[in-house]
Amino acid sequence: MPQQQLNVFQDIMSPEIIMNIFNALDEGVIIVDKECRIVFYNRTLSRLEGLDPSDVMGKSVFDIFPSLTPRESTIYRVIQTGRPIKDRYQQYFNYKGKLIKNVNTTFPIVDDTGLIGAIEISRDMSLVLNLTETVADLQKRTSIKAKSKKGVGLRYTFSDIIGSSNKIQEIIDILQKASKTTSSVLIYGETGTGKELFAQSIHSDSPRRYMPFIAQNCAALPESILESILFGTTKGSFTGAEDKPGLFEQADGGTILLDEINNMHISLQTKLLRVLQEGVIRRLGGVSDIPVDVRIIATTNEKPSELLKKGKLRHDLYYRISVINVEIPPLRERINDIDELIDFFIKKYNKKFAKNITGIEEEVINIFKEYKWPGNVRELENVIEALMNYIDKGEITKNHLKNLNFGAFKDFIEKNTTTSQEENLKKSVGNYEKQLVLEVLRSTGGNVTRAAKKLKIKRQLLQYYMKKYNISREDFI
Ligand SMILES: Nc1ncnc2c1ncn2[C@@H]1O[C@H](COP(=O)(O)OP(=O)(O)OP(=O)(O)O)[C@@H](O)[C@H]1O
Ligand SMILES: [Mg+2]
Repeated sequence: MPQQQLNVFQDIMSPEIIMNIFNALDEGVIIVDKECRIVFYNRTLSRLEGLDPSDVMGKSVFDIFPSLTPRESTIYRVIQTGRPIKDRYQQYFNYKGKLIKNVNTTFPIVDDTGLIGAIEISRDMSLVLNLTETVADLQKRTSIKAKSKKGVGLRYTFSDIIGSSNKIQEIIDILQKASKTTSSVLIYGETGTGKELFAQSIHSDSPRRYMPFIAQNCAALPESILESILFGTTKGSFTGAEDKPGLFEQADGGTILLDEINNMHISLQTKLLRVLQEGVIRRLGGVSDIPVDVRIIATTNEKPSELLKKGKLRHDLYYRISVINVEIPPLRERINDIDELIDFFIKKYNKKFAKNITGIEEEVINIFKEYKWPGNVRELENVIEALMNYIDKGEITKNHLKNLNFGAFKDFIEKNTTTSQEENLKKSVGNYEKQLVLEVLRSTGGNVTRAAKKLKIKRQLLQYYMKKYNISREDFI
């Protein structure tokens, strides 16, 4: 806004007027400072959340909404990242125990000094959501098709993805936007980086979420079997074949995850390309095309460029399937996510095993940050789960690591602990040598020749020790 216009605007719009406008809106408005303390809370929000503005002013959002963790709080995340979050669905309890279901849009507030706070606009979704849930429920009860396929194997949403590293947040951002479209997605990442987690989250965040999500691993199945699984069969097409719909027909209206597409046979890739291009499938042995509306997500644990080079992935399929293309970095390239992940898994297994592990020793975290984690987040989760079998309460310490028996991790630990044992020994010997030299020099009043004789070593060697431990004969005269 030009300065002149800004001056006029400021003359007309006093803070009181702006507050009155905010209070008259149908949307909730909350403004916080950069410590997440509430500095403004409008009437609509007060009605939606059942809280009195005077009770919340100056308090932290985490005091008012104790069920909210920093990871779940859109306000906290905007303050941390400085990036806006748009149309995020949130469900939480206020401190009076009321369940709130809102869709929030949150913006950072920035001035010359940088980020100074955040503003969040909330729309109440309880009514709409209750209606949607009722419709979905009815659909479930009345339609056998929907009943048998709905949400097959679906467990994760974006809020289950742990990691504040820029890379992970960027991927979440991209995929959250992508979940609103029907474009195909290709996810590349090493084993255990969370490819399935991301794929499921896309579906759960999409308008297709009440329709089926079906995952099929493309590895380890002979081509013809995989083809019949994906596209279905017609009676008599080969021995014993029945009229059977394939996964594409079953996933109609929903999402299909083609896991490890790098292992799909080239000729089957051609058939898959047809589904992507024309939106139709043909059952094995069938003569007619069946239209399907399925969103395709594919994963690979080999780099797409390598697959293309080796001829394991058709170029035309690659272009079609990677409209949205993300690469999940291995854990060793985002070691700062390790703290959060450890925390998360300790909480998870505390709950599962009914234990009370309070945390993990700093030294162990450092070891974890040096390890390369070839099995990525899955391996880290397994390590934490295993460790928690050996302890009931208190901290996980370096001592507990000895109990672990996983190949690569075990080798690493053994190497690590041995080195430090050697170091400890060296340190103790060093301390002993220094004390001895000091004592003898003290007894000879700083006379190096006599001290060397007493120690039964050469004068030169004593001088070497004195230099090594920074001891001077003047100290004893
Ligand atoms: N960012 C994350 N936050 C929380 N849990 C995660 C994260 N990434 C992975 N996990 C957990 O790690 C495990 C492995 O994840 P997932 O199955 O999605 O990996 P993947 O990339 O599909 O592995 P693979 O290539 O071996 O199939 C799961 O238990 C998942 O919950
Ligand atoms: Mg997987």
